[in-house]
Amino acid sequence: MNTFPDGFLWGASTAPHQIEGNNLNSDFWANEGRVPGMERSGDACDSYHRYREDMQLLAEAGLNSYRFGIEWARIEPEPGLISRAELAHYRRMIDTANDFSLTPFVTLHHFTNPRWFAEQGGWTAPGAIDRFRSYVENVTSILDGVEWVATMNEPNMLAMMTGMAALMQQAQQQGEGWQSPTVDTDGPRPALPAPRPEIGRIFVEAHHAVRDIVRERTGAKVGWTVANRAFETRPGGEEKRRELEYIWEDLYLEGSRGDDFVGVQSYSAQWVNADGIEPYPSHPDNTLVGSAYRPDALAIAVRHTAEVTGGIPIVVTENGIATHDDSRRIAYTDEALRHLGQTIAEGIDVRGYLHWSLLDNYEWGHWEPTFGLVEVDRETFQRTPKPSLGWLGEVARRNARADAA
Ligand code: FCB
Repeated sequence: MNTFPDGFLWGASTAPHQIEGNNLNSDFWANEGRVPGMERSGDACDSYHRYREDMQLLAEAGLNSYRFGIEWARIEPEPGLISRAELAHYRRMIDTANDFSLTPFVTLHHFTNPRWFAEQGGWTAPGAIDRFRSYVENVTSILDGVEWVATMNEPNMLAMMTGMAALMQQAQQQGEGWQSPTVDTDGPRPALPAPRPEIGRIFVEAHHAVRDIVRERTGAKVGWTVANRAFETRPGGEEKRRELEYIWEDLYLEGSRGDDFVGVQSYSAQWVNADGIEPYPSHPDNTLVGSAYRPDALAIAVRHTAEVTGGIPIVVTENGIATHDDSRRIAYTDEALRHLGQTIAEGIDVRGYLHWSLLDNYEWGHWEPTFGLVEVDRETFQRTPKPSLGWLGEVARRNARADAA
């Protein structure tokens, strides 16, 4: 099947720190200046000022939804100091999306924390969930009419990043290079650590706490988005896979039960053998973040998510490819959508596809891996749509893949 359900969301996703620029009060910004080998976000894509242009590009291409985030470090730059001006800024973004007939999909937390929050011990410190709750309470005042709210982006990756703090310090002391959590290339650097379940459980609790607040105070559907690794098993690797799947995904997917939806985020697939996760083999098709070219991963991710969450509605909130070759992006996305269509034909309730990403942006310490449907000149901030933007817009207008028209 290559046509999609009526009312399907077609859009692109972004995260505030990666596109806005000058996120001065965030913990990530603070690290950018300290850790060797980490490029700075700087002005990023200046989307803090140019969000209207970003949304216009999306809408004119034919897409009907935009996923963007609200930055806690801007709303609450000091503990308890809530910026009315920043709340109004994000409300203007919601209004602008509505003006362009783009359904806003709002993320409340996308990896970055206020710097003060990190200095108070971050997510593992006592009181962390209360601090997050208080931020979310303030944000609900601007969410009127918003239909989709994700509390946290990829809590599983965030759990890994929280565990990485110690590694970052070590890298700093030993003068080693920064390793982005989303870049998985071969090299002398140590493998990224697995997310620790005890940290993951803090996020599940935080998610449930703010889910209730969003439900009480707004009419939004609420859920969170989970990074899916689409594990596949080598003979003898079954037990290891179950163990890793729990640590990486199922703890968080089980935390989605009772939500209004779950966001699936998928880029590649990975083999598991009896010893653990196999590194991506070197291959000319590997993407700029080192992962294997696996557009079929999306269907593996969607099926697994549906199974573990008990069939709550799914929105693909991220899927894309880091490449300099835009024809590869189109080929990857078309193939991913074919696989997504199969999952819908099987009866899985998928409500939308939000591509990662709208813009070539700051990939957590690196500018090299480009995921965008739109190129951005980092000096003039001029946006130049790539053919993939128009291509995805056409898919959206038809609500079908080309060969199904
Ligand atoms: C995901 C993140 C997103 C971006 C993509 C490539 O893990 O949510 O911000 O970095 O990977």
